[in-house]
Amino acid sequence: MKQARRLDNAPPYLFVEIEANIKKALAQGVDVINLGIGDPDMPTPDFVVDKMISAVKDPKYHCYPEYSGCIEFRTAVSRYYKRRFGVTIDPETEVVALLGSKEGIAHIFFALVNDCDFTLVPDPQYPVYQLATALTGGVPYPMPLTKENGYLPDLSVIPQEVIRRSKILFVNYPNNPTGTVADLNFYQRLVDFALEHDIVVCNDNAYSEFTYDGVIAPSILQAKGAMETAVEFHSLSKSYNMTGWRIGYAVGNKDAISKLKKMKENIDSGIFTAVQLAGTEALNRGDEFAKTMRSVYKRRRDTAMEELKNLGLEFEVPKGAFYIWVKVPPSFTSKTFTSMLLEKTGVVVAPGNGYGSFGEGYIRISLTVGHERLKEAFERIKQLSF
Ligand SMILES: Cc1ncc(COP(=O)(O)O)c(C=O)c1O
Repeated sequence: MKQARRLDNAPPYLFVEIEANIKKALAQGVDVINLGIGDPDMPTPDFVVDKMISAVKDPKYHCYPEYSGCIEFRTAVSRYYKRRFGVTIDPETEVVALLGSKEGIAHIFFALVNDCDFTLVPDPQYPVYQLATALTGGVPYPMPLTKENGYLPDLSVIPQEVIRRSKILFVNYPNNPTGTVADLNFYQRLVDFALEHDIVVCNDNAYSEFTYDGVIAPSILQAKGAMETAVEFHSLSKSYNMTGWRIGYAVGNKDAISKLKKMKENIDSGIFTAVQLAGTEALNRGDEFAKTMRSVYKRRRDTAMEELKNLGLEFEVPKGAFYIWVKVPPSFTSKTFTSMLLEKTGVVVAPGNGYGSFGEGYIRISLTVGHERLKEAFERIKQLSF
């Protein structure tokens, strides 16, 4: 069967490939330790599950949900933004609920990007920014994130012609995969740049609650003028262990939010209201829970960093998110090191080149397995010589 041309532009999704490799290894009886995918291993908190159970029994929530999200959820988002970032958000016009942040991230490209427009996207990156651009017929222009630039894009090297034809600038801090956290000065530079060039600037803040060593992640919406041009994407997946529930949201500039809503209204019919009410509970009551999760990841991060040092592998100390960006030993590529680890130890990691060409030479280790299992993974890796 012939597929639409736009699908030809999209390579297989990285994690679908990783999942297939895991299935193959499991079928061969390998005891796989999965450090490849950023899917929290701990359960959703009871108070969220309990809210879901009561809401699911209420027939009033069995009909179509509201397109933008129920007012309880949007109000909880607005309160969270005030409490956490000091930012005022109008729940009527500046928030939209999403079927997981991935859905909204992909759809904003469809709402704003035409054929042959540029989008400014990081490299390495969470792959959706580039894939969604490709599906719209736009052209992703990679902004390298390197050790030299502190894993923050250098706006001064983007050609004027590219800037002139760009519709969206997308960043993601705390960053997957490098673990970098941006500060408010950086966001201010992005917002000033976006206002000057009439570009919508988006930050993917899925890991806002996971920062270490005294660092606190700001919101791009704290920058002056941000509400005139910026959109921030948020996820409940990571902060409250809710990856399977599919709930997130976008907040920010009302014009961009209304275009995203229009796109969605024509494609999906909202999120089950019971899930939104459970999400409301998570946002209203989950601050302490997220803090506990942060300390769990910090312990794992510290253990993994110690083990990596002992192995003599070079890595970036992650100040945020729950990944470690590790340089592969000199005789390997991202792919050969990843394959060798799976074959010889049953440990799955994500190859850095899957995040963009500037990810070549790296792997990403996800801290989403229990402490003992993490140690076991390193015990196995220690048996290798490289
Ligand atoms: C940077 C980043 N943004 C967004 C997402 C998607 O999260 P959600 O489950 O809300 O779709 C992920 C998932 O791993 C991610 O790493």
